[in-house]
Amino acid sequence: MDFKQEIAKLLSTVLEGESTEEIYSQLELPKTSDMGDYAYPSFRLAKTLKKAPPVIALEIVEKLNANLPSFIKEVKAVAAYVNFYINRAVYAEEILGEVLKQKLDYGRSDMGGGRNVTIDYSSPNIAKPFHIGHLRSTVIGHTLYNIFNFLGYKSVGINHLGDWGTQFGKLITAYKKWGTKEAVEEKGIEELTRIYVKFHDEAETDKSLEDEARAWMLKMQEGDEEALALWRWFYDISLLEFDRVYKRLDIKIDNNTGESFYNDKMDAVVEELKAKDLLVESNGAMVVDLSEFDMPPCLILRSDGGTLYHTRDIAAALYRKRTFDFAKSIYVVGLDQKLHFAQLFKVLEKMGYDFASDMVHIPFGLVSMEEGKFSTRKGRVIRMEELIEETVNKTMEVIKAKNPDLPNKEQVAEEVGIGAIKFNDMFNSRIKDVVFSWERVLNFEGETGPYVQYTHARTCSLLNKSGVTEFSGVDYEVLADEASLAVIKLIQTYPDKIKEAAAKFEPYIVTRHLVELSQAFNKFYHENAILQSADHVKLARLTLVYAVQTIIKSGLNLLGIKAPEQM
Ligand code: ARG
Repeated sequence: MDFKQEIAKLLSTVLEGESTEEIYSQLELPKTSDMGDYAYPSFRLAKTLKKAPPVIALEIVEKLNANLPSFIKEVKAVAAYVNFYINRAVYAEEILGEVLKQKLDYGRSDMGGGRNVTIDYSSPNIAKPFHIGHLRSTVIGHTLYNIFNFLGYKSVGINHLGDWGTQFGKLITAYKKWGTKEAVEEKGIEELTRIYVKFHDEAETDKSLEDEARAWMLKMQEGDEEALALWRWFYDISLLEFDRVYKRLDIKIDNNTGESFYNDKMDAVVEELKAKDLLVESNGAMVVDLSEFDMPPCLILRSDGGTLYHTRDIAAALYRKRTFDFAKSIYVVGLDQKLHFAQLFKVLEKMGYDFASDMVHIPFGLVSMEEGKFSTRKGRVIRMEELIEETVNKTMEVIKAKNPDLPNKEQVAEEVGIGAIKFNDMFNSRIKDVVFSWERVLNFEGETGPYVQYTHARTCSLLNKSGVTEFSGVDYEVLADEASLAVIKLIQTYPDKIKEAAAKFEPYIVTRHLVELSQAFNKFYHENAILQSADHVKLARLTLVYAVQTIIKSGLNLLGIKAPEQM
């Protein structure tokens, strides 16, 4: 039963000319429950009824009282508002009963109708470090992946690896000059980065290096075996490192179709642009003019005929539409690429593709590290594996201090440490920059992943100690206190929060809801005796504990965060 909907319906029977939808959108959730559980403001009606709002509120209450349904305990007029007090036992039974029935499926929906949503996330660059910006894309993208699946879409996770482009000509040149097989095999991306940086340093004085790099790139494009073998090797070495990170972070991506995947689909893009009369020459290069949108031109072909980042993204968009017929196509990429995507979508629009309007760039802000060993100042890149390792080690210290007898300490430290990193990346609106501080992300009492996980572990411990596993014959009158009601309200709004997170592509709506739920639950826990109370009281309160456990677990699942039973 949707209480808000029911109240809207009820009001529509006494408000002539007002639709249920209209009333529904007007209903408010008062901050404190002494103001009622739902409130209807009557200001809007003053004009048509030509009466003062408080008078209207009183009249509405009078009419409602003539025939009040049992799920409402009381209606009161307070100034311009009609305040509804719901029957708390009926409410508790309705909401908690639903969680008991649906368990981890509570909040699941089929609104997506099985349609595909492609989500481009992570997308690091071959031979370059997987940095904290890519981590943020990975974590946000993977959460959206889970959320869309939960809402009945079919998510397709795509890793648009940066695995093609002029940088590989440079890298091969650098490797030929200063690299060794042994060093690359031993140090992987670190070594590839070293020689790549050296290339740029040396190229400042030795102009012939750029020519050599161009020649290698040309060879790659022409299918030269040696060039491609080296490129392939750099690719494999890099993937090995990326996959280690994905595995440790428990991230699922369906397709590793990077930029090179579109090499054989590029001619068709160029031909199509030509045929549609969209290509114009500019300083020897071929571009699509976007001046009508006040944007710089979109580069399609370099003067030497090579393709560009944009060309490959156009090919990728067409391929994704063809292959997945997506209902939505999402790109989780940093804010610095805002213009790139705006241009991409405009070019597709000019090509006549309506589906351009189903494509969205989901930008996010920068992540930086606090001062110290891991400082991001002076352009230092933080290696992902180092960051994870350090976080897990620090989590281990906290666990050893808090709960020295905990079995499985290593595993729990891993789950809590990684959960803390992910939660922190999703705690604010995406667009905000994030400063990473261990003190904050690992604070078990703060607005953090560990705090939510800790609350979940508390529910597990209560349920385990009680030995109760069956929740039938529950006396829901027990749950009429303020603290219980506050928890139940947050459980009730959980499904809407998931939908809101999907509509806004904002995982923070989930993280924050879980923090609020945890805080409300801990208040309930401190105010109400559970295991020591009389049987019927105990059973009712444990039902609430079970529901909270279920919702936290469900939310953490969506965020890709584990929910250990003890910590
Ligand atoms: N590899 C790019 C980078 O690291 C991100 C690619 C994003 N996806 C895309 N389809 N352009 O900046």
